[in-house]
Amino acid sequence: MSRRNNLDISPPVHRGMKDRLDRDLFKKSVPVLGVKVTPEKVHTTLRSEKVRSYILDLPKTPKVIHCPDGQRIVVLNVQSESELSPEALDYLKSESAEFVPHTVELDYDSWTVEEILDAILPEDLLKEAPRGYAGCGHIAHINLNPEYLPYKHVIGQLIIDKIPVIKTVVNKTENIGNQFRVFPMELLAGEPNYEVTHSEQQCKFIFDFSKVYWNSRLGTEHERLVNVFTPEDLIADVFAGVGPFAVPAAKRGTGVLANDLNPESYKYLAKNIEVNKVMNNARAFNLDGREFIRESVLQAYDNPLPPYIPHKSLSERKKEARLRKQDNKKIPEKGALDTEKPPRNKVTQFVMNLPDSAITFLDAFRGLLSPEHIGQRDLSGVYDENNLPMVHCYCFTKVFEADKAAVDIRQRVEEKLGAPLDEKASFHHVRSVAPNKEMFCVSFRLSAEVVYAPAA
Ligand SMILES: C[S@@+](CC[C@H](N)C(=O)[O-])C[C@H]1O[C@@H](n2cnc3c(N)ncnc32)[C@H](O)[C@@H]1O
Repeated sequence: MSRRNNLDISPPVHRGMKDRLDRDLFKKSVPVLGVKVTPEKVHTTLRSEKVRSYILDLPKTPKVIHCPDGQRIVVLNVQSESELSPEALDYLKSESAEFVPHTVELDYDSWTVEEILDAILPEDLLKEAPRGYAGCGHIAHINLNPEYLPYKHVIGQLIIDKIPVIKTVVNKTENIGNQFRVFPMELLAGEPNYEVTHSEQQCKFIFDFSKVYWNSRLGTEHERLVNVFTPEDLIADVFAGVGPFAVPAAKRGTGVLANDLNPESYKYLAKNIEVNKVMNNARAFNLDGREFIRESVLQAYDNPLPPYIPHKSLSERKKEARLRKQDNKKIPEKGALDTEKPPRNKVTQFVMNLPDSAITFLDAFRGLLSPEHIGQRDLSGVYDENNLPMVHCYCFTKVFEADKAAVDIRQRVEEKLGAPLDEKASFHHVRSVAPNKEMFCVSFRLSAEVVYAPAA
């Protein structure tokens, strides 16, 4: 129950409101004490150390009322003088303040989602009441337990009313079980518009929330991995979704081949590459992951990405020109020096975020650089046996302890690769998804034994 000192300002209780959110029922008149002061004294009264904690502080409720006689009423959060401390009382009297009765009118706008929910839900549902939602652009996504379903539309409407950016509220109806990891959902309130614009890592992502995979909880993990890449890298993102690794990496200059089998994800991936103006650094593909892994090394070689061109300020370019002049060298055209760098024709890192089954795709690396697979291409000067591409593969394990989880994951990865991982392989705990469901990212360098194995 919301209280300020002894004041009961909680909303009126209307338990069991299911079908319609009757906002008009949320009205309450609360008698309080006010102090009448001259306009000049309002500021000092509000800021006084002795009085400050007695000033009414409620959202959308004025603290100061203008009276017809030109005076002001400063509204307090007590109902009688006896509730004030002797210091506050002395201060107000010394300022010749006059105590007057005042009534605070509260309505639906005065309370938060949680306060109204507490007034609506049956008592036995209060303890576990839904307290939050995941926001994605203008969509709020909640995950209601069955006992709250009779209240779902009222809960949805409350969120729309109270959170200005939210225009659509959806509820997850089942666990994700489909190939493209799209979760089934139902509209609880607001517009049936699922195309969102969402920001992550200073990039803009546009996508249809009902047709593609997106998880805002992975934001930190996306950033962690993108920080590992450099502009010299060419990464192959095997299960790219709408681009939360690919687009920020490309924006920082990394070369990216990004793939997703879901035609909707591919459509928005291509759009996000354009919207974020990273077409020079990123290309989109719509293949099965296994096919893409094998195709990526051929694509990189046959159709390399141009070298990374760092942005140079005018002063940097002038300095460069001055230095070349001193050395009697020809002053190059803008950006000409950068084209002297080699194109990016070798995949240096693979990203595989499909934790349910990514490990089962690892056999696609067997024979990746074998003559049977690469045909006539001479990749000997391109890939260095001692510095082969890295793989960052996401997976789930039932084991929580890091050491034991690493043993479990290593065994499954080695089985698919058909070769041992080296001792530098690392196992990063990403998050606990559910009881007995831990998400990890295993990062390892491919070995010559794997990539030069006879093609499967
Ligand atoms: C867990 S999501 C990850 C998306 C994105 N990388 C992220 O971090 O948010 C996995 C993605 O893999 C795609 N996918 C599922 N099966 C695939 C397959 N066989 N080949 C390629 N992509 C696939 C899904 O459409 C989905 O976008």
